[in-house]
Amino acid sequence: MGMCTFCCCSIILVALVFALGITGFVSWIIAGFVRVSHLKRINYQVTDASLLQFNVTNNNTTLEYNLALNITLQNPNDKIGLHFDRIEASAIFMKQTLNNVSLSSSSYLGHKKTVLLPALFKGQRQVALRADEVSNFKNAGDFDIMLNLDVKYWVKFLASKVKIKQPHIACSLKVPLNNGKPAEGFKVTQCKVQSSDK
Ligand SMILES: *[C@@H]1O[C@H](CO)[C@@H](O)[C@H](O)[C@H]1NC(C)=O
Ligand SMILES: *[C@@H]1O[C@H](CO)[C@@H](O)[C@H](O)[C@H]1NC(C)=O
Ligand SMILES: *[C@@H]1O[C@H](CO)[C@@H](O)[C@H](O)[C@H]1NC(C)=O
Ligand SMILES: *[C@@H]1O[C@H](CO)[C@@H](O)[C@H](O)[C@H]1NC(C)=O
Ligand SMILES: *[C@@H]1O[C@H](CO)[C@@H](O)[C@H](O)[C@H]1NC(C)=O
Repeated sequence: MGMCTFCCCSIILVALVFALGITGFVSWIIAGFVRVSHLKRINYQVTDASLLQFNVTNNNTTLEYNLALNITLQNPNDKIGLHFDRIEASAIFMKQTLNNVSLSSSSYLGHKKTVLLPALFKGQRQVALRADEVSNFKNAGDFDIMLNLDVKYWVKFLASKVKIKQPHIACSLKVPLNNGKPAEGFKVTQCKVQSSDK
């Protein structure tokens, strides 16, 4: 009699602990799933930009450029860290890509954290400018430059990686020419995320 009551109690206790364990595990999975499926997008900004050189040379056929940018990435999520596989940037002037640079590889951005990535675009490119465009160019104090970012990252969910691709991030910049003076007049620019494929 007494023995059996003890048996029953133990069985109930074990079952209870087991049920609690299962419930805890399931809610942990659901919470993780909800967090990942409500992942907030990275906030991209260009905080500083300056053209150290931007001239047409060689009979108005070549553009020599030296563009320095500071880009920030902010992770707005409360509990999720982001692991980057790739951050590539390309600068575009008059629909021509100046060049592509790789900003970072295999880095980590913790929750609620911001990282500053400097980018330098330097080189020369053939351009076909009309005479009036050349004279406008030579009188300009700032230039419209489009910065495109191509970002691949992943977040951890249970034992797996959830990969996220953001290939169309565009920042429409007005970059002042810097003639040896410190860069002035650049407005912090918010980038637009045009699509996100999970
Ligand atoms: C980028 O930021 C660094 C550190 O704050 C600063 O020294 C540098 O001048 C900035 N670069 C540009 C192009 O503004
Ligand atoms: C190119 O631009 C830089 C700075 O804007 C200037 O100092 C330099 O003289 C220019 N070079 C030519 C060849 O125009
Ligand atoms: C510049 O153009 C003129 C006339 O089009 C040509 O005679 C000259 O050789 C060119 N110079 C260079 C460096 O290409
Ligand atoms: C380059 O463009 C400027 C401004 O339009 C013009 O004055 C100059 O003659 C051009 N130079 C050449 C070599 O075509
Ligand atoms: C720059 O990268 C983009 C993708 O981010 C690619 O489509 C483009 O061809 C690249 N351009 C150059 C000049 O490498």
